[in-house]
Order: sequence, then C-alpha cells, then structure tokens
Amino acid sequence: MSVAPAPVETAIAELRRRLGDRLSTSDSVRDLHSHDESWHAPHRPDAVVFPDSTEEVATVVQVCAAYGVPVVAYGTGTALEGGVIPEHGGVVVSLQRLDRVLRVSAEDLDATVQAGVTHQTLNAQLRDLGLFFPIDPGADCSLGGMAATRASGTNAVRYGTMRENVLGLTVVLADGRIVRTARRARKSSAGYDLTRLFVGSEGTLGIITEVTVRLFGVPDTIAAAVCSFDSLAGAVNTVIRTIQLGVPIARVELLDDVQMDAVNRYAGLTHPVQDTLFLEFHGSASSVREDAALVQQIATELGGGAFAWASGHEERRALWAARHDAAYATKALRPGCGLWATDVCVPISRLAECILETKQDLRESFLVAPLIGHVGDGNFHLGLLVRRDDPREVAEAERLHDRLVRRALAMDGTCTGEHGIGTGKLRFLAAEHGEALNVMRAIKQALDPLGIMNPGKVLPP
Ligand code: LAC
Ligand code: ZN
Repeated sequence: MSVAPAPVETAIAELRRRLGDRLSTSDSVRDLHSHDESWHAPHRPDAVVFPDSTEEVATVVQVCAAYGVPVVAYGTGTALEGGVIPEHGGVVVSLQRLDRVLRVSAEDLDATVQAGVTHQTLNAQLRDLGLFFPIDPGADCSLGGMAATRASGTNAVRYGTMRENVLGLTVVLADGRIVRTARRARKSSAGYDLTRLFVGSEGTLGIITEVTVRLFGVPDTIAAAVCSFDSLAGAVNTVIRTIQLGVPIARVELLDDVQMDAVNRYAGLTHPVQDTLFLEFHGSASSVREDAALVQQIATELGGGAFAWASGHEERRALWAARHDAAYATKALRPGCGLWATDVCVPISRLAECILETKQDLRESFLVAPLIGHVGDGNFHLGLLVRRDDPREVAEAERLHDRLVRRALAMDGTCTGEHGIGTGKLRFLAAEHGEALNVMRAIKQALDPLGIMNPGKVLPP
C-alpha cells in the first residue's frame, strides 16, 4: 500500500520545479530562518524560498494556498516578538533578494523600495540628494518588515512611525493576487485605507513586496547632546514638559543607569552611569539654539546636568550607534539568555507614573533589566534577560511583564508601541481591544480564509 505524500512535500516539490536552487530545505538555511532576535523558542520551516520579484512571491503563495501550507514572510530576522518564527512550519518567504531601491523622487520627497531594502541602505542612497528616511529601529532591518510591524525608533517623536511614513504598498494576498494599496498623492479620501490595514499586519493578511515612503530634507543644523540626571523622575519629567510645551525635539531617548552601564561596556564609552537622556535637535541654527536652551532650562530645574554636546559628525554618529546597539549591549550582559523586551506605550502625561512604578517592581524582583525608551512618544522597554530553560526566571519575567502591560492598559496605553504582537503579546490583545478584536478576526477571515498567512500570529486563538 503506498502512502500519499503530505501536502507540504507536494507543495515543496512544485516550488522546487519553479524556483530551482532558490528553494532550500537544508538544515542550516532552515535553522537560520527558525528564529528572530527575541527569547521566543525557534521553530524550523519545512523550506525557505528566495523569490526575485513580486510575481514570484505571488506564485509561491498560490502554490502554498493550493496545498494549505503556511507561508511566513521573512526580512532580516531582527524582530523582537517572534513574529517571523514559522511555528507551524511551512514555507518561509525570504524577501532578501527583493533588494532594489526602485525610485527616488527628490521633487516629491518620496521613494519606492522593494521589501528587502534596509533603512540604512536606503539612507546611503539618499545622502547625496540631501534627503533622509527617518525611521530607525536599532537593527538594520528591512522596510518590508518595518511596515509589517508598524515599526518606529528614535526619530518618531518628530517624524512619526511607519504608520505616518508609508504612502502605499504592493501586497501579495493570500490567494496570490497582487494589489497596490494607494497612489502617491499625499492625501486621498478614496475608500478604505488599505495601506494602514497592511501596515502592522505582520504578514497575517498578505506579504508586502514594495513600500513607498516619505522622505525628508536633511536639516541645516543637527545638534545632539547627553544629559545625566540625579533622578529617574527628573529625566522623565523633563521629557514630559518638553513635549507638553510643543518643543519640536527630533530625538529624546531615556536610558536608565543599568542601561547606561551596559551601553558603556558594549560600546567602550565612559558616560556617567546615571539616568540619562540622549537628545537631538533639528532645524535652523537659531531654532536649534532656542529649542536646546529651553530644554536645558527644564532639565536644570529637574536635576539634570549641563548638556554634553556631541561635537562633530563622528561623535554624533557614535552616540546614536551606541543607542541603536542598546539591545545587543543588553544581551551581552548575560550571554546565553534570551531577550524578553517589553514595549508598552502610554499617553505622555502618564509616563512618569508608569516608569516609576515599573522601576519599583524591578527593585522588588530578582531579575535585573535595563530600562530604555523612546520617551518622547511615551514608549519604553525593559530588556529582561531570561534563561528559557529556567522556569523560575520565565515565570518572574512573565509576572513583571503582565503587571507592566496591565499598568499601561489602565493608563489607556498599549502593550506594544513598536515591536508588534508576534506571539509575545497575543494574550494582551483581548484586554487592549475588546470587541474591536472581533472586527480584526473578521478581516483576517475575509482576506485569508484558509489561515495560511503567518498562522498563530497577531490574533489570539
Ligand atoms: C530599542 C528596541 C528594543 O529601542 O526597540 O532599542
Ligand atoms: Zn525601541
């Protein structure tokens, strides 16, 4: 009696016929695509494909749909909530070969890139034009992944997140159809806003293959500074007042003393190990001077020291490189541990309360975690370092995380400001969204009736 091959094997055989050596089932390639940078347990896909075009992504999705095989889009693998882990196996679609900047318009201040282009690659191409793309998560991640998670970073307080900066997308739907969600007009009232539906959908509604983004002119004057405080409350309240006064600050990042220590060690720096703000001002020479003087005055009143200015381009670059590498600096504190990054975001008026209560929780815990945040947006992270095989540590991280999210929700905040739901925040979605979660389920059912697009993510079962 012969046994029929499993659907996934048939799908892989069919994909191999079409893609040749751009399909891999080798252990090393499957391992490479079995995890992100979070603590979440890895899981291997059955195969990884490397399509060359939107049309080829569509072909892959059609074949997977025909056999009911899971499809998981994968960019740089730098996600922090397990969103790209193929936990039901199936086919991982690497967007790595979709790596072209398709067009840049200095006249319209926009660009269209393939999903695999990273933000640093895009910015390298914009530099000579005097333009830049501001969204800058710590890792050099892909624009497709950033759109999929509605990512942000340090510039969001001034320039917005992917929500504000994506003008349109090309998306391959669960049945292989290809749609463009919007034209390039800066505004449009034409129908449902599909761009914003797919931004943040984490590959559960379709695969983003092209992204059109806004660009900005590089400001005349850019000035960055470090300010150490004698208390965490002083640092956070400085930020709250700055935002409430409407100072158009470009970056304002909080690093607590534990994080500063980690960053110093990792980057070989010698900043004071105190609660600290990294600040940056953009504008004309005179507006930067005025904005900085105002924030310095607020900081001084609240226990901050004199701004230590990053003099020159190289020192400024080093300052932000140290900030962007903070997650890696945290990981280096306890090698072998997974990074359990919390990501709450609250209305700015509640930020001090939220951070100070969270610090109190940490003081009463045996786990140590740096605290870092895009505080101008009301967003901060704990970098909990957890041994996945130690149930006591996992339980304690879970307890701290739960308390933190409930605190943020009680303040009308969110469980995730920028990392996404993946699997790590699934259990908070019902509390955050209530009945709206059922609307999301209806959308998922309408666009992916077979449930093949990144199954197990975003929507709790
Ligand atoms: C950061 C990542 C953890 O802010 O979002 O460094
Ligand atoms: Zn962050």
